[in-house]
Amino acid sequence: MQLEVIHNGGALRHGSQEFRLKDLVGVDRLGPGGLRIRSASAVTGGRLRLVLADGATHHVALPAPRPDGPPDLVVRGAGQLLTMNGDGLGLVENGAVACRGREIVAVGPSAEVERDAPAGAATRVIDARGGLVTPGLIDPHTHPVFGRSDRHVEFDLKARGASYLEIHKAGGGILSTVRATRAATFDELAATCAENLSRLLRWGVTTIEGKSGYALETAGELRLLEVLRTTSATHPVDIEPTLLGAHALPPEHADDRDAYVERVAHEMVPRAAGQGLAKHCDAYCEDGAFTTDEVEAIFAAARANGLGLRLHAEQFTDQGGAGLAAQLGAASADHLEAISPAGIEAMARAGTVAVLLPGAALTCRCPWPPARELLDAGVPVALGTDLNPGSSMTSSLPLMMSLACAQMRMSCEEAWRAVTTVAARSLGLAWTHGRLAPGARADLVIFDVPDHRIVPYHYGDNHARVVVKDGRVVIGG
Ligand code: NIG
Ligand code: FE
Repeated sequence: MQLEVIHNGGALRHGSQEFRLKDLVGVDRLGPGGLRIRSASAVTGGRLRLVLADGATHHVALPAPRPDGPPDLVVRGAGQLLTMNGDGLGLVENGAVACRGREIVAVGPSAEVERDAPAGAATRVIDARGGLVTPGLIDPHTHPVFGRSDRHVEFDLKARGASYLEIHKAGGGILSTVRATRAATFDELAATCAENLSRLLRWGVTTIEGKSGYALETAGELRLLEVLRTTSATHPVDIEPTLLGAHALPPEHADDRDAYVERVAHEMVPRAAGQGLAKHCDAYCEDGAFTTDEVEAIFAAARANGLGLRLHAEQFTDQGGAGLAAQLGAASADHLEAISPAGIEAMARAGTVAVLLPGAALTCRCPWPPARELLDAGVPVALGTDLNPGSSMTSSLPLMMSLACAQMRMSCEEAWRAVTTVAARSLGLAWTHGRLAPGARADLVIFDVPDHRIVPYHYGDNHARVVVKDGRVVIGG
């Protein structure tokens, strides 16, 4: 058997097939640091011997296509089950979900699921004890890989009156994290990223969008995307990778903006896309960051290279970024605290998803993004943590739901849709993620609350008791 360890130990190649480490080893046996494969060898009977980075040895089999049969996992006894099918919550009382392999095979009222997918002797059955069962949450906007610097000091400066843009323009902010990121080793960055994923997972988040953006030179940005790929392959949480080369102007290009934009468009974009390291391309359109003309040049290259588009737009000032995102067919425009009525109208017409980030508005003392106006105009609204070391140091997506309901006039139903179906749609994952349906991913959460409204209502506390990712119980159980 020909075996090759690839993606920095995140995966294994066997012939023409690639297997992620998390598909080979029970994720419950993977450490929070996101362990990697050191070596792999074949033993008899089609089994493999893996030695992981911590020296532990595992004997595993390559996953084979699964024949039909009883489900591997059944979750039953859900007081409320949110399937998220249709326009609302798809709420089922006394519901159940059956999973085989990494897919859902049946979902609905308990009696129907028992009839359609009866449990077998080997089926693991989990009792939701009258709690709430939902799809795994999806965070459509994070910056999870960064070198650690002392941005808590900036947080205190902001508390004392400084503004985010003042700190940024003085060479702090993003550029402080860029210095720390450039100096960090691959393993340090991977450990930080895995730690962030573990924090998100505890709140019930099973899939995220993750951005590069703290290296601001080609090799460094590709290295950050490699970290995302390796960490995603070895950690239960899946990452949808985004190149954010145009996050800030690096100091070495301070007098030559055009050369940097040119480099992002014609060096970073083709390499990230060509190596399969990024699926999406993002840029920061803001006073002190990049103009709409610069974004347009980068997005033209991104589109030509098959990347989806997302844009940090109108966070502090109205630059016309939302209108540009809509015009270029971007999947999302994110932030939008300062969006104009014309920007809202353009997004509604184009069907661009608004990814709102209440954590950044909170920390940067911005007005809340106009969720109500966006929703009323027909713009689909998703919510993200914006997890990053500067403007939003949090992993709590449920807290974003609470802020959206308490401060942005979103209903609990709208908040649930924002972290499931709409978030999935913004990432092109609408069929497989963010809903409970046969054929969709077996990603789900059991919350210890009898009603879905309690998750945003009872804020700041974590109600997630069990998290299932790809059909495996990865938290609780
Ligand atoms: O989404 N605004 C630009 N980017 C991030 C902040 C990054 C940072 O401050 O390190 C955001 O808020
Ligand atoms: Fe962001």
